[in-house]
Amino acid sequence: MMPERTPYIAGNWKLWGTRAQASEYCEKLLALLPDASRRPADVGLCVPFTALDVCVEALAGSGVLVCAQNMSAEESGAYTGEISAPMLLELKVDGVVLGHSERRAYYGETDRALQEKLPVALAAGLKPILCVGETEDEREAGDMERKLRHQVGEALHEVPDERLADVVIAYEPIWAIGTGKVASPEQAQEAIAFVRALVGGRSEEAAQAIRVLYGGSAKPDNAAEILAQTDVDGALVGGASLDPEDFARIVAAAG
Ligand code: PGA
Repeated sequence: MMPERTPYIAGNWKLWGTRAQASEYCEKLLALLPDASRRPADVGLCVPFTALDVCVEALAGSGVLVCAQNMSAEESGAYTGEISAPMLLELKVDGVVLGHSERRAYYGETDRALQEKLPVALAAGLKPILCVGETEDEREAGDMERKLRHQVGEALHEVPDERLADVVIAYEPIWAIGTGKVASPEQAQEAIAFVRALVGGRSEEAAQAIRVLYGGSAKPDNAAEILAQTDVDGALVGGASLDPEDFARIVAAAG
């Protein structure tokens, strides 16, 4: 018996969203989303640190999850510019994106650092969204599976088997992020089934339960086809999430 996996549609605002914009956005989104009990998917917003409390307050009781876009593995200390898990919990944040390709590429996020961050997030009760994905060169060189095996293996190394299913993985091919070049439904299915199989190497039960999302130029007009793939459990949406109407249409496409 295959367990039912609730789809998850998460918006990643990246570097967008003053507090004023965040509050206006949340109001618009709530007017567009069906009530939590009638939603086809869990819905989350990954927002800048400075907008977290605004979103938590505006979305209270709506069932929409609020996530940070990064977190330190440290609790406190001499780590200038960092934000810890307890600080996020204090704001009643639900989850955190870890290892987004932009953080890996521009800010030196490493697999080793992620290996420390994942257990810290889980122990704190934050729902992590771990991002993985290959570059165009890696795909063309036939290295996609090697890259995914490495990223997933390293990041989940210190996560106990019984907590694996509490992680959400977002497969985001780097060539599709912000480029308008979306993976085909078949490419998304193939890579995500492979990610699931990698988790299966640790625990078959976790592999069946863990949610693996697609990310990379997901839009209202391509989402339904991708989300219909057997192993695709949702989407991490960047650009299209900045428009509440587009984002709500992608949520609807999960139904
Ligand atoms: P995009 O970004 O939808 O703008 O391609 C996705 C992401 O980076 O999470």
